[in-house]
Amino acid sequence: MTSREIRQAFLDFFKSRGHIIVPSAPIVVKNDPTLMFTNAGMNQFKELFLGEAPIQHSRVADTQRCLRVSGKHNDLEEVGIDTYHHTMFEMLGNWSFGDYFKEEAIAWSWELLTEVYGIAKDRLYVTVFEGDEKEGLPADTEAYNFWKRHIDPDRILKGNKKDNFWEMGDVGPCGPSSEIHIDCRSDDERLAIDGGTLVNADHPQVIEIWNNVFIQFNRLKDGSLTPLPAQHVDTGMGFERLVRVLQHKTSNYDTDVFQPLINTIAEAAKVNYGDEEQKDIAMRVMADHVRAISFAIADGQLPSNNKAGYVIRRILRRAVRYAYTFLAIKEPFLNKLVPVLATQFEGVFDELYLQKDFVQKVILEEEVSFLRTLITGIQRFDSYQTNEKLVEGDFAFELYDTYGFPIDLTSLMAREKGWEVDMIGFNSALCIQKERSRTATNIDTGDWIVLVDNEDTSFVGYDVLEHTCKILKYRQVSSKGKKQYQLILSFTPFYPEGGGQVGDTGLLIDQHDGSILRITDTKKENALIIHYVSELPNDIQSTFVARVDKIRRIDIEANHSATHLLHAALKEVLGVHVNQKGSLVNAELLRFDFSHFSKVSHEELLQIERLVNSKIRENIALMEERSVPYKEAMASGVTALFGEKYGDNVRIITFDDEFSKELCGGTHVKNTGNIGFFKIINENAIAAGVRRIEAITGQKAEEYINHQDSLLYRLKELLKNPKDITVAVTALLEENSELKREIEQSTREKTLQTKKELLNKVESINGLHFIAEKIDLPNADAVKNLAFAIKASIVENLFMILAANIDGKPHLAIMISENLVEEKGFNAGKIVKELAKEIKGGGGGQPFFATAGGKDVSALDSVLLKAKEVVK
Ligand code: ALA
Repeated sequence: MTSREIRQAFLDFFKSRGHIIVPSAPIVVKNDPTLMFTNAGMNQFKELFLGEAPIQHSRVADTQRCLRVSGKHNDLEEVGIDTYHHTMFEMLGNWSFGDYFKEEAIAWSWELLTEVYGIAKDRLYVTVFEGDEKEGLPADTEAYNFWKRHIDPDRILKGNKKDNFWEMGDVGPCGPSSEIHIDCRSDDERLAIDGGTLVNADHPQVIEIWNNVFIQFNRLKDGSLTPLPAQHVDTGMGFERLVRVLQHKTSNYDTDVFQPLINTIAEAAKVNYGDEEQKDIAMRVMADHVRAISFAIADGQLPSNNKAGYVIRRILRRAVRYAYTFLAIKEPFLNKLVPVLATQFEGVFDELYLQKDFVQKVILEEEVSFLRTLITGIQRFDSYQTNEKLVEGDFAFELYDTYGFPIDLTSLMAREKGWEVDMIGFNSALCIQKERSRTATNIDTGDWIVLVDNEDTSFVGYDVLEHTCKILKYRQVSSKGKKQYQLILSFTPFYPEGGGQVGDTGLLIDQHDGSILRITDTKKENALIIHYVSELPNDIQSTFVARVDKIRRIDIEANHSATHLLHAALKEVLGVHVNQKGSLVNAELLRFDFSHFSKVSHEELLQIERLVNSKIRENIALMEERSVPYKEAMASGVTALFGEKYGDNVRIITFDDEFSKELCGGTHVKNTGNIGFFKIINENAIAAGVRRIEAITGQKAEEYINHQDSLLYRLKELLKNPKDITVAVTALLEENSELKREIEQSTREKTLQTKKELLNKVESINGLHFIAEKIDLPNADAVKNLAFAIKASIVENLFMILAANIDGKPHLAIMISENLVEEKGFNAGKIVKELAKEIKGGGGGQPFFATAGGKDVSALDSVLLKAKEVVK
């Protein structure tokens, strides 16, 4: 079977058992502070397990793109070294939300593997949870008994909490798991050593392929487990491993999932895959990493210097440096793999195919800039001196931190010189940095205190700005020592930050005693709408009125609707390649980032503005459809965003069916006329292939124009109201440069004249050609030019001090011939420092030429006298 067929067979199997096949969620996670990247298929269903959102389908299956490079699940260091861990991989999964449980999950996984895929039963082992006393968890005898129906009991192994209790992160849904392992060794090897002893023992041919988790608990912040309201099934099968098994390979990289990439790399590096281990590792790293980077970028995460962006940047750099060091690929190459990858995933994850030019461009730019740093870093290393044959920890850390050198690269380079790296020193520098960033972002979140059980929030903010409510639950958070509370309300008109639109602010008014609290922000966390307050109400059980700040919301809405019009106008004026890459909508302005490869010209900006403003004047009525089936919406040609997770039913915001039709959860004006007026105030690049436009609307735009207008008015006044202001300014500029030229010419003449005079005043003192004169020149540059001109005439034994009054300030310059500097040890810099005291100032320079400035212009004469005395 090809990998495509294998994937399809999985989905078909579960479809035939009543599962709905859903799309993969984006690899970049939004609205979940506990997670940066999707690390398991179940992430997108977290709120269903926790009972925070209603279950629409109780049986679901998919293939989910996952990334395990940070947090609890991190395989990065293994990748490439071994042949079965990946950064990005596909997880095939089936789920039951309060529907079937262990019996069916176990039976179906067995049926699929042995009957559909035809894997030999005597190659399979399964594990079940042995229980954990400390956690108060019993052994999973249920799973054991269900397995006994299918497999020989001596192939059922018991596993501890580490291997058989699955958790998504430090907190969140979890439960005992049952893994399926396969022994791919030859028959001889299998006879010699019992496969059961190699399960979970890091043997490259005895590997886990499928994990069945029986989600029953929620791990809380305080470490305790609370039972969930219902029991669920969460499974995950490593797609690349499954393909390897079914294609009878010993490495994931030998399958048709990776071969197209490996072949392209091998060709570029002019090597054979399989000839040399170190080179093979490099090829595997590249083939693996380009997948992670490409999908992260396609899902909206650009490489950057912090958080998720930095993780992506580091993965990219790891790949580039393996290519550089071990395959001698010294030109940007990784980006050339993008088209190969995009084609492979066409029809599976179209996000990449549809944006392949953009993704390739972003990777190319990153490669170019990193290759520059890499080369500088290698030079730094080559010029590094050490006596003890030891690379200091701090230096290794500098290479790591500034030049992106992974520590194994530094170790390797050190070994090549017969040195070692001070790993203790390196690790302590790393620890200090980690600690610093940890305390910088340290947010301590308490557990929820539930007041009203089993009730969800109703969001009413599309229709009203005020509603009565109860507090369902609350918790305390502290960040950088600042304490706050988060509230979940039964009804809320507050829009939670999302889709670029900032969260609402407003009031929470106690209906009984009238006391008022300020809601300072509203955010979304998974399905929860969280309201921020700095203190709790007096009576938390009371009934409240939640009231949104109306004026602020109206301004935000104008900017959000204008963003839609802008997006549509960009596509119309620049082309359909324009895709949203980021957006911020607040009460002040709108900021829109989009893919486009060149600067947007002034003429294009005008065109865009004109188009948006004409749509505003048309006063198009908002058409809001709250719940349209996703497929139907897409078929109607609606604009959807990459990297966004859409449910079965979506909300469509339309302003003129022919013009702007977007999937959107935000709030909008009722008629485009409410936007008033649209004005772009900025256009610039923010990353390779990504432009940013900032714009304002309504009153802000009016004020902006008025401000520009008064500026113009003032200028006209200053220029005495010329007919054409540009003509007047151009004339002024020309006149100005003409005058400058004249001044320069006259200064030059004056300098020459002064030089002649000074040459006549040279005194001979103690064998020196001594000049100490007050001169009249307009600026320090002219004084310097004069000094050098005289030096050119008197090559030897010159000792000259010049004093000038420049715009009312004293200025000194000392010039001494090089022979005096060398033979007599004279030092103009030191002398000028001493003399500067006389004029109440300071200065410095080189031994042969130095200058000083000061405050006391009346002291110029005495300085010259003093200098003369010294020389005498
Ligand atoms: N969530 C489980 C895992 O990732 C299936 O292994």
